[in-house]
Amino acid sequence: MNTPNIRISARAIGLACLLACAGAQAGEVEVLHWWTSGGEAKAANALKATMQAKGHTWKDFAVAGGGGDSAMTVLKSRVVSGNAPAAAQIKGPSIQEWAREGVLANIDGVAKAEKWDELLPKAVSDVMKYKGNYVAVPVNVHRVNWLWANPEAFKKAGAKLPASWDEFFTAAEALKKAGIIPVAHGGQNWQDFTTFESVALGVGGADFYKKALVQLDPATLSGPTMEKVLATFKRVKDYTDKNANGRDWNLATAMVIKGEAGMQLMGDWAKGEFVAAGKVPGKDFVCVAAPGTAQAFTFNIDSFAMFKIKNDANVKAQNDLAAAIMAPEFQEVFNLNKGSIPVRLGMKMDKFDDCAKLSAKDFVDDAKSGTLVPSIAHGMAVPSATEGAIKDVVSQFWNTDKMSAKDAQAKLVAAAKAK
Ligand code: BGC
Repeated sequence: MNTPNIRISARAIGLACLLACAGAQAGEVEVLHWWTSGGEAKAANALKATMQAKGHTWKDFAVAGGGGDSAMTVLKSRVVSGNAPAAAQIKGPSIQEWAREGVLANIDGVAKAEKWDELLPKAVSDVMKYKGNYVAVPVNVHRVNWLWANPEAFKKAGAKLPASWDEFFTAAEALKKAGIIPVAHGGQNWQDFTTFESVALGVGGADFYKKALVQLDPATLSGPTMEKVLATFKRVKDYTDKNANGRDWNLATAMVIKGEAGMQLMGDWAKGEFVAAGKVPGKDFVCVAAPGTAQAFTFNIDSFAMFKIKNDANVKAQNDLAAAIMAPEFQEVFNLNKGSIPVRLGMKMDKFDDCAKLSAKDFVDDAKSGTLVPSIAHGMAVPSATEGAIKDVVSQFWNTDKMSAKDAQAKLVAAAKAK
């Protein structure tokens, strides 16, 4: 009869200790990220709340600018001046670049205790490690090759959701005739490249994509398929509006939300915007794979690299942050808001919508069939200097009417050598 009481008091003692212990070792964690749009901020707040619940102080270091280019510039100057944040949103090959500078912390202690090697696909954990030690923790898996559409606008235009690039241009014409901006776009070079890589995947297929944009093979970059990709990409521009230049991605998404525009080619962080605006997937907006890419998956994995810091309490907070990011509760709430899917294996998907469920299924299927490809626009594939150089060429081509596809191809071959 006494057992339940004993159990309750033991639990109460545990709880009291937990609170006191957290209080005693409370530290501050400064986190650099670029999650400032409506959906992104909701997701970032979930992380802040998790850390505060552990008794730590959250120091927000948000640098606005989709794709993170501005955030990376600010980060460099902070690290150079010897004042690194505890954690920064750094992804893909850049993790290795930062680790080589000797500024990242070894977080193997948390990774081992939490069994990350068992909880992550190997392809992901390899990217988070430098010389075999964890230096970063992954948050999610974003799919980049999506097309978001407003079904009302499509209905008004009598248009059909496109599965191929031919169908895409037919739908775009119909939307234009109905007085709707066919494609919501923001003319910033990472957005240009986000569209470009979906066109490359849809027109050329996964093998072409890998050869051209991951291996940067000169013959493929200057070949006929790339010429077709560039021509198709440029045609998309005819269906964007005159005010696209410099527009932020979330404002482009807002155009689709309001029905001013029919569709947007964007990764599934766009879904975070629809959802934050109270829109229901499958009813108020729809997701389909970017034309011609239903059998492939362009991945973009957000992660936080941990910097070497001194204060013990802050190191404790940093370790707690790393553990919290991989915890199932956080993986669920964060990704529900962010539009992405959990990176942790074996997560239940019942609370997620159909776009996320499809993404989770395709991620596994495409990994098996070799059609899972890294996003160049989002820092998953090539060194940052190369990425910057090829992004510049693609945006120059998009913005320069007189530049031929052949000219752009020659420039791409040269840019691919940038290191
Ligand atoms: C990041 C996303 C972010 C998007 C727009 C991408 O590079 O991976 O987390 O939402 O940029 O800012």
